[in-house]
Amino acid sequence: MKPRHWFFLIGVLFYVVGIGFVIAGARASREAPARQTAAVEVTAVASVKQIMKGIVGPAANMVFNAVSTTVTSKGVEEKAPETNEEWEAVGNSAAALIESGNLMLVGNRVVDKGDWVRMSQALIESGKVALKAVEAKSPDQLLASGEAINNSCDNCHRKYQRGS
Ligand code: HEC
Repeated sequence: MKPRHWFFLIGVLFYVVGIGFVIAGARASREAPARQTAAVEVTAVASVKQIMKGIVGPAANMVFNAVSTTVTSKGVEEKAPETNEEWEAVGNSAAALIESGNLMLVGNRVVDKGDWVRMSQALIESGKVALKAVEAKSPDQLLASGEAINNSCDNCHRKYQRGS
């Protein structure tokens, strides 16, 4: 082969390899942001007690009190959210309960990998039932979800709440 042909071949080779690098580079830049998000570290700052008193307690009260039946001398008084804003407020509290369950599973808040995890998940699941009831705007379903939520609180406190 003549030297000219060699030069041509090597030129083509560099061209092809160059395109390869461009493609690899484009792929890497597309994948990079995903890898960065996965690397974010979350540190648990608040104590379990602070989350209970600051988030879980108030949110649970909001859900528990949203639907009630009171018997008075004037008859039976049914209370339930009526306006969109009232339903939204209950939904926000249900969401706060769900996310509180997630917070129980972050960092050093995880007491053990057994009951603690299961009971935190029970809080999450019962909160989801309340959220579904809100989406369906169903007072009956909301009332029923209250019992599951209450059980999830009691079960965990019975085993893990110290000094009371
Ligand atoms: C996964 C376990 C767990 C679940 C579920 C849970 N709690 Fe707690 N809660 C605790 C622990 C542990 C403490 C004690 C924290 C401490 O004193 O350090 C506590 C304490 C509390 C306190 C503070 C009591 C006080 O004055 O010291 C309140 C209020 C509370 N929880 C409300 C609730 C409610 C309402 C629910 C259900 C909606 C709930 N918790 C669900 C584990 C849980």
